[in-house]
Amino acid sequence: MEIITDISSLRSRLAHESSIAFVPTMGGLHEGHLSLVDIAQCKADCVVTSIFVNRLQFAPAEDFNRYPRALADDCELLKNRGVDVVFAPEEKTLYPVPQEFMLDPPPVANTLEGKFRPGFFRGVATVVLKLFNIVQPQVAVFGKKDYQQLHMMRELVRQLNLPVEIIAGETARTLDHLALSSRNRYLTETERAEATRLYRVLSQVKQGIENGKGDFRVLQENAEETLRSYGWKVDYISVQRRDTLMPAQAGDEILVVLGAAWLGNTRLIDNLEARRP
Ligand code: PAJ
Repeated sequence: MEIITDISSLRSRLAHESSIAFVPTMGGLHEGHLSLVDIAQCKADCVVTSIFVNRLQFAPAEDFNRYPRALADDCELLKNRGVDVVFAPEEKTLYPVPQEFMLDPPPVANTLEGKFRPGFFRGVATVVLKLFNIVQPQVAVFGKKDYQQLHMMRELVRQLNLPVEIIAGETARTLDHLALSSRNRYLTETERAEATRLYRVLSQVKQGIENGKGDFRVLQENAEETLRSYGWKVDYISVQRRDTLMPAQAGDEILVVLGAAWLGNTRLIDNLEARRP
């Protein structure tokens, strides 16, 4: 496995590859990221993973500075998983001048995550477009864990005619169903035990939908209330259409239940796909 930090070396290394599958990450790697690497392995001859904590997608008050950085450990994990090339640029390599050209994402970027993290998808879309231009993959793999981000990536390639196929990976979880996240390491022991409640309330909403309950608002409010009663600060629990990620209307069938909430100083997100009978 090669670890490459500059753009021209990466371009020469990849110039003669017949097919490239790409897994962009911010590091702090866990089995969720690695499961995306496994998918990438099946899709192309050469697998490239990027590790870059992208300042553009963090708001000033967010956790950019404390975000886990463990390049050596990350590379060891990727090597054991058979990754061919790790692209780990420094900030000045990707942003040698202030990034003034920014992608203006569609209105759905201002809902859900975007409502609570203004500018987040602008930063994500901009860095992913740059990474796609640098790596030039045929395939890129994103996790369903970040469901709205995955949706945004599909719209990005569709609306900008990028020759990249977006593949979705299922959410990897612990045995007690907590979605793996680099941010889980911020949790105290007590918080870690409580953290699985997010999955459980999302499951209850999913069950409600699958049992034919059509009033999504009641399901959402009950879920939010349960979390609050256990000390969570809830950003949203919301039932959306899977195809557009717009709020679900009575009669919609192919749905996803998304949630984001704070446990102490840690913000957790998760989601579950659901289908109305
Ligand atoms: P990061 O949070 O490191 O996630 C990298 C990829 O791993 C994303 O596609 C994310 O959805 C996926 N992922 C995270 N946890 C997962 C889990 N438990 N199961 C399956 N997949 C999981 O998402 C980003 O980085 C950044 O926004 C990025 C796209 C790299 C742009 O900076």
